[in-house]
Amino acid sequence: MTFNPLRERGIPLDKQLRNWRELNVTPIDPDHADPYTRCRIITMNGIEVEAILFSHQLARHCPDLELKQQLARVRYIEAQQQKAVNWLLPGLASVLETTIAYEQVAVDLTAWVARMEPDAYLKQAYQFGVLEDFDHLYRYANLYEMIEHRKAEKIVDGLTEVMPGRPTYLHHRDPVDNVREPYDRENTAPISKLHALTIMSAEQQTMNFYMNVGPTYMEPIARQLYQEIGLIEEEHVTHYESLVDPGESWWEMLLNHEYNECYLYHSFLETESDPKVKNIWELHLNMELEHLRLAAELFKKHDGRDPEQVCAPELPAPVTFEPNKAYLRELIATQIDYTTLGTGYVQEAHERFEKMQDALMGGEKAPSERIIDDNRAKSGEEYRLQTEGEHPIHSLQSHR
Ligand SMILES: [Fe+2]
Ligand SMILES: [Fe+2]
Ligand SMILES: [Fe+2]
Ligand SMILES: [Fe+2]
Repeated sequence: MTFNPLRERGIPLDKQLRNWRELNVTPIDPDHADPYTRCRIITMNGIEVEAILFSHQLARHCPDLELKQQLARVRYIEAQQQKAVNWLLPGLASVLETTIAYEQVAVDLTAWVARMEPDAYLKQAYQFGVLEDFDHLYRYANLYEMIEHRKAEKIVDGLTEVMPGRPTYLHHRDPVDNVREPYDRENTAPISKLHALTIMSAEQQTMNFYMNVGPTYMEPIARQLYQEIGLIEEEHVTHYESLVDPGESWWEMLLNHEYNECYLYHSFLETESDPKVKNIWELHLNMELEHLRLAAELFKKHDGRDPEQVCAPELPAPVTFEPNKAYLRELIATQIDYTTLGTGYVQEAHERFEKMQDALMGGEKAPSERIIDDNRAKSGEEYRLQTEGEHPIHSLQSHR
């Protein structure tokens, strides 16, 4: 049952172009789809967007015309894949519903990666970050109840709990403290490189999304909450991208990107519940195998090494969307008061952190605090979805 994507044959590149009819995918049913199908779609959109942006960056550093032409050909296919994937989302969802789904992805994908990550320092980075996106989900769920009069359980479907994590206003750190140490590309396990790319891409997509959709709301509190959390997603991209060894050559980075696309499409092919969506994962896996073969050729030629030296010899266990409730409760109970200092973690509010907090807050409560107050005032109580009992931290148990 081992699958080595470096040894598999995919669809030849000149057979990968799709016409309008083939690109016009049928979206998932907004009311009856598995929430984790939507999570897989959002994840793959983030991965395809990163594939496109990375390829553009590489092209901008590439003086060789023929190479640039080859990059453009593959990148056009990545752009078609992105369209096919993201257009699986139904048009009915509001911006805030999509936002809640994005935070659900951040929670359950990062928690899964944290559980599976073999390196202790990298694992800590995921454990640290997941408690923040967990709290974002709670803040947006309250905004959703307040301005759209609907409940986030319609979206997360009881698979992910909605309650306070590390309070959002405490996520605003001095930017210096968001930079982590990278893994060492020579010694790290191949799975660790894939994890870092996956979470970086997911956070980048969330950052981009909030940048653009935040001002589409009329309500001042909604506009402000998107500004606040948008800035935190910038911190998260800084946090996760700094885990990647910057000593990787462009060709090694390209190889890792294509390998990761194979890994994720294969993972989702194995775990997908919706047969129509599963067909897309399978088609895209077969396209990615060819992208990987082309990247491997470039790597051999320009990096002078064998791809088998840097990639996993077979695909690791599939990335799986599943509830992580007990794991998250454990992290909340033990790591809620963590912040960062330099490239490490501490439990006290140090000077640089306090300085940033004072400068940003300007003597006012953060929008993420005000939204809870406002919703309590309007709906009688704040919104939570605690399927496993009371909050693990006594002071954060529900106010009545
Ligand atoms: Fe792709
Ligand atoms: Fe978030
Ligand atoms: Fe995030
Ligand atoms: Fe690709």
